[in-house]
Amino acid sequence: MAKQKTVYVCDKCGYESPKWFGRCPVCGEWNTAKEFQLKNVDTESKSIRSNETGMDEPHPRFVDVNKAYETLEESRVRTNLPALDDILSGGIVKGQVMLLGGEPGVGKSTLALQVCASIVKHEKEKVVYYISGEESIAQVALRAKRLGIANSNILLSSETQIEEVLNGIDIEKAKMIVIDSIQTLSSVDIDSPVGGVVQIRAVVEKVRIFSKKYGIPSLLIAHVTKEGAIAGPKLVEHVVDTVVYFEGERTTDYRILRVQKNRYGPSGEISVFQMTENGLDSLSDDALVNHSQTPGNVLTSAYEGSRPINVQIQALVSRVKVASGRRISHGVDVRKVIIISAVLSRHLNIPLDFHDIYINVSGGINITDSGCELAIAGSILSSFLDVYVGDTFMVGEIGLDGSVRPTVNIARRIENAKKLPISTILIPSHAEYNGTSKSKSSNKVERAEKMEKLERIDNVRRLFNYMLDLKKGVE
Ligand SMILES: Nc1ncnc2c1ncn2[C@@H]1O[C@H](COP(=O)(O)OP(=O)(O)OP(=O)(O)O)[C@@H](O)[C@H]1O
Ligand SMILES: [Mg+2]
Repeated sequence: MAKQKTVYVCDKCGYESPKWFGRCPVCGEWNTAKEFQLKNVDTESKSIRSNETGMDEPHPRFVDVNKAYETLEESRVRTNLPALDDILSGGIVKGQVMLLGGEPGVGKSTLALQVCASIVKHEKEKVVYYISGEESIAQVALRAKRLGIANSNILLSSETQIEEVLNGIDIEKAKMIVIDSIQTLSSVDIDSPVGGVVQIRAVVEKVRIFSKKYGIPSLLIAHVTKEGAIAGPKLVEHVVDTVVYFEGERTTDYRILRVQKNRYGPSGEISVFQMTENGLDSLSDDALVNHSQTPGNVLTSAYEGSRPINVQIQALVSRVKVASGRRISHGVDVRKVIIISAVLSRHLNIPLDFHDIYINVSGGINITDSGCELAIAGSILSSFLDVYVGDTFMVGEIGLDGSVRPTVNIARRIENAKKLPISTILIPSHAEYNGTSKSKSSNKVERAEKMEKLERIDNVRRLFNYMLDLKKGVE
């Protein structure tokens, strides 16, 4: 008889304890402790080809690094969706386990189905498995019809038991497995509610073992809600190789796919899509920038992953009667806005306390890059002074002392910004940039052909004066 060990797991956050607890010491929730019997490895349980997965090997097998090199199969499975291949450093690696997270309705299933269609289109002999625990086969078919996908090599199933799913996969022909979503699948080994932390962990673990063993990549779809971000998918991020999040405002068609973690390439990479009736179209980054001729708009560049993308900061500064103006922000941390407006009020002696400040980043993108601070300050002043600076590109950080400081990769940001119709570039005085750019391909310094006016500023006072000069020029 195999021994059983009892553990108590918090159903909210996944905290484990050998003892029962009334209140979870991690997330603070009451009555969330669920009792589980952990079976020993030698227990006879219905599990996925356990003898083949290497889990039951009596001794560990050690492989030296050189041997490991030989077995290394560099080949990547290209999804043939350029926007996705780019952010995944060329495609999906064999056996890669990817988590695709996003809020409900953002377009996760659409993207997954498009990836499946694109893969089988180029690999006639292979099949991809699309396990839809969430929607019926008819619903998936309806989406496929809308997207114009008709390929008999996409195999659909609405089976929700992970062991059954994995046992039904033809390992010779499978090119990829999509699980939509991990919250709807369950394992027979686990007696816990479907969608709970414990089930999700078990399902992901089984898929991971399967993918690694047979070299079949898998795409796991997971819902992430703003409130429940901690429970569920977040807890399995460390188990999977790659975590990709789909972001997007409900009010716009733009969707941003962001690589949060990647064991096979750089993380932080993003690409921009547009949701249309025919599915997701990849867009150039500059689609996020709209050219409006009104005060309060400033162009800047956010460094995401290994490349800069052009964004537009929009500010609205509106007068209120009391000295406690609100700061509301979309796409930028509101604390950043509070600090920048405090710096501007203090060093320029302007009554921003008597103004509400609303900040928005075009296209619904979220930026954390501190190189955008100068543009945030610029957009606030532009709206406050009611002066149009929309064709000015600003990049730099702002110090609490009102100084404008250099930020990383200024030259690459400027090079990328030159795709936009800009007339002036505002950079920090001490920034290392001399109007030239290093060409990556030829590795030689080239003179930028078209020179925009380059202004260097060292503090927010100079920024303010720049705006005032523009205003005088306008009047
Ligand atoms: N006919 C249509 N034209 C344009 N867009 C559509 C159409 N039908 C659906 N959509 C878009 O597709 C989105 C749903 O896509 P999808 O089902 O792939 O999202 P999801 O993230 O998988 O959602 P869920 O969380 O419900 O599984 C809708 O929110 C809508 O924006
Ligand atoms: Mg879906």
